[in-house]
Amino acid sequence: MSNFPQRVFSGVQPTGNLHLGNYLGAITKFVDLQQTHDCVFCVVDLHAITVPQDPKALKSSIREVTAAFIAAGIDPVKHIVFNQSQVSAHAELAWVLNCVARIGWMNRMTQFKEKAGKDREAASVGLYAYPVLMAADILVYKATHVPVGEDQKQHLELARDVAQKFNLDYSESIAALGLGETFFPQPEPLIQGPATRVMSLRDGAKKMSKSDPSDNSRINLSDDADTIASKIRKAKTDPEPLPSETAGLAGRPEADNLVGIFAALQGSTKAGVLADFGNANFSTFKTALVDLAVASLGPVTAGMKRLVADPAHIDAILCDGAERADAIARKTMNEVKDILGFVRAKSA
Ligand code: TRP
Repeated sequence: MSNFPQRVFSGVQPTGNLHLGNYLGAITKFVDLQQTHDCVFCVVDLHAITVPQDPKALKSSIREVTAAFIAAGIDPVKHIVFNQSQVSAHAELAWVLNCVARIGWMNRMTQFKEKAGKDREAASVGLYAYPVLMAADILVYKATHVPVGEDQKQHLELARDVAQKFNLDYSESIAALGLGETFFPQPEPLIQGPATRVMSLRDGAKKMSKSDPSDNSRINLSDDADTIASKIRKAKTDPEPLPSETAGLAGRPEADNLVGIFAALQGSTKAGVLADFGNANFSTFKTALVDLAVASLGPVTAGMKRLVADPAHIDAILCDGAERADAIARKTMNEVKDILGFVRAKSA
């Protein structure tokens, strides 16, 4: 089963402003994974059109996410960075996998229910099929490891189910073509470290989100140092000083969140942060957090600004990444066509 070479795939949607949650929950994890894995990082623009969108904003968002990847330290030469719509195999494989996934499976997807809201009949078919496209993203590279947040775990389980059913449904054809015992791997989630889930600065029970009406609830990657400082100073806390052990964070969501953010920015753990700040009051802790946040985010936000100012350069990076991604995805897609029994054009 595990004779697949290790490969990481992950995607970030180009929808609106990037914030600290995207940075700590996803992008910095990607940066670390480059040391140990071959990585494919995708700006998932096909996913972005499952809800109403503005074409101008989409284009600048695609470039903004790419700039964030690179400013944060993702190497687009050693690894692959591209936008999904440039590699047509994603949409092609998604169609095939739509015919593998069952309606019953899709009806259990909690994110669809949340996003579609009350008027489910008015949601796009794309929003419903979104998890299958995500499965295609991963499987078209035969990726073995997928860094995702908690909220994407169910989608990753669906990807595993789809892979397994495809392997099973077509096992004879796969064997006859000599494509191995299992064609698609079972992709594993990678969810680790502090601040995988960054919460709102105004309410420790809610995820930090670009759609929160209060801008003070989040730190945007476009915020300057003064704005970052003011948002941290205004962040909700409770009246107690910090505990000296992590057990003391239970039932204190705001304290837990700020300590988690500190740990993630510092590359340490919550326990380590509390060893330094146990019994400190929030004003002392927040002063240290402001300094740390400004020092660690400053170079990233400055790098993003520089990159975004040169869209031709970003587009060239995306085109190069797409060519290399396409070479891998095309091979899988040709194999899939053979497995299914399609007659196909001679591949290059
Ligand atoms: N659905 C993911 C999110 O909203 C983004 C995504 C799309 C993704 N395709 C993916 C993540 C493949 C991991 C792997 O966060």
